[in-house]
Formats: sequence, structure tokens, C-alpha cells
Amino acid sequence: MADTVRLDVTDGVATVTIDRPDALNALNVDTLGALRDALAEAEDADARALVLTGAGEKAFIAGADIAAMSEMDTAEAQAYADLGHDVANAIEQFPAPAIAAINGYAFGGGMEMALACDLRVASERALLGQTEIDLGIIPGWGATQRLPRLVDDETARRLVFFGDRLDATDAHEEGLVGEVVAHDELDDHVQDLAAELAAQPATAMRAAKEALNQSHETTLAGGLAFERRTWAGLFGSHDQREGMRAFVEDRDPDFE
Ligand code: HXC
Repeated sequence: MADTVRLDVTDGVATVTIDRPDALNALNVDTLGALRDALAEAEDADARALVLTGAGEKAFIAGADIAAMSEMDTAEAQAYADLGHDVANAIEQFPAPAIAAINGYAFGGGMEMALACDLRVASERALLGQTEIDLGIIPGWGATQRLPRLVDDETARRLVFFGDRLDATDAHEEGLVGEVVAHDELDDHVQDLAAELAAQPATAMRAAKEALNQSHETTLAGGLAFERRTWAGLFGSHDQREGMRAFVEDRDPDFE
């Protein structure tokens, strides 16, 4: 793993930190590759919650690496887009909930990585935006599709067309982030949230995420069929038996 990405797994919580503060954690090819590897390693470690954040005081991820992109031809740009999509998909399909701890700038591809997470918590110092239009390009790591699924269609269009940079309060009002917290409290708050998620029954959490993801992938009928199958498939699992038995016996469940 390149030294621009750090992975820590503690008590089932995998924290992935983009650590390239001199470039405000911009994702060049090496860093994206390292991020992909870190996600795979976190999955192998059976992480039950994932936190994505940026090192330093200023940035979550300031986007794709503009200096590197400025030298790319079409084939290189295509490969770069593909790699970023692979990484965003790996976050979206990570078999446990992912939280973006947005500790500062989240522009362009940085915001797109946050959009691939299940939950977004912003520091009051965060600034967010799909700023690609200012560079003569469009979002290339998923925002044209994930943004209108998160906020209303017109808000998504305004963000992409104007490239506005929203502060945390406005981002919360627009539904881009679920929560805004004091800058100094962000890490502890997100780690508490992640610990809470990691303590939930893992098989059910994974099923819940998969089923919710289906609502973005398929028709209503297809999604409902997926939910029914997945719901019934949980019966007979340790956690289903234990969760229900514990309720009947009036005690706390002991999940796997
Ligand atoms: C490469 C970057 C960078 C980026 C900042 N830096 N953002 N390098 N790619 N995205 C570098 C700067 O060049 C500078 O390097 C150092 O980080 C500090 O940045 P400053 O600009 O001096 O800091 P500040 O004045 O605080 O301004 C921060 C900022 C600004 C507001 C975040 O840097 C900015 O607007 N950056 C671009 C943000 C952006 O448009 N992102 C979207 C990219 S497009 P030196 O060496 O001079 O110290 C994208 C496409 C995704 O993400 C899809 C791809 C397929």
C-alpha cells in the first residue's frame, strides 16, 4: 500500500485515512490504488464499519489530482475514471456501513468518494462541491448518478452546472450530509457512530445495506423481491435466533 493511505482496524472499525496533506489529499493514481487496496484489506479483516477521512487540518479529499489530469490523454483519462469508479463501487459495496468523516475540503472526486459512503458527517469547517465544471470537465467518479439519488434532481443539477462550493450548514440543508459537528469533535463522534454500527448484528447489517443499495439499482418490484428473499434468508442465522430468543427471554442479545 502506498504511504499516502493509512488503514487502522480496531474493534471491528476500519479507518481509512487519505494521507497526502501537501496536496490536500488529492487522489492521484497511486493514492487511488492504495485506497482500493486498503478497502480490500479492511474487507479481509472482516471490518464491521468503515470510516473514510483525510489527514491534516484542511482537507477531506480536494478531488482528483488536477496536476496529473492536466497531462493525461484520453486513454489515460479513461483508465483514471475507471479506477476511481472501481474504488467508489468498492466503498458502496463494502459489506458493512461506510461513514465519510468530512473534515475539510471535499471537492470533485473527493465529494464523489463521500457520496459512495452510506453516511456523511461533516465538520463545521467542511466545504463541499462538484467543482469539475470550472476545469472544463464533468464529475467522473459517479456524482452524475449518485448525487440525484441523494438530493433532489434540481439541486444535483445546480451543483454540477454551477460548481458551487457549499459550507457545511448549506450542505446539510441540501441533504448532502446527514450531520454537522464541531471540528474538534468530528473524529470522536464518527468513531462512536462506527462503533455503534460495528456492534450491530453483522449479517443483518450487511443484508440491510445490500437491500437499501438495491433501491438505487432496480425496479420497485425487483427491489421488493430482493428484500423478501433477503429477509427470509436471515432466518436460521445465529443472530436472528439469538436476537429473538433474547427478546423473549427478556435479556440483552449476544450477537455473533
Ligand atoms: C492537485 C491540489 C489539489 C488537487 C489542492 N492541491 N487541490 N493538487 N489536485 N485537486 C494542491 C495545491 O496545488 C497546492 O500545492 C496545495 O494542494 C495546497 O493548495 P492551495 O490551493 O494552496 O490551498 P488553499 O488556498 O487552501 O485552497 C484549497 C482549495 C484549492 C480551495 C481546495 O486548492 C482548490 O480549489 N483546489 C481544487 C479543488 C477542485 O477543484 N477539485 C476538483 C478536481 S476535479 P502546492 O504544491 O502549490 O503547495 C475532480 C474530477 C473527479 O475531482 C473525476 C476524475 C475522473
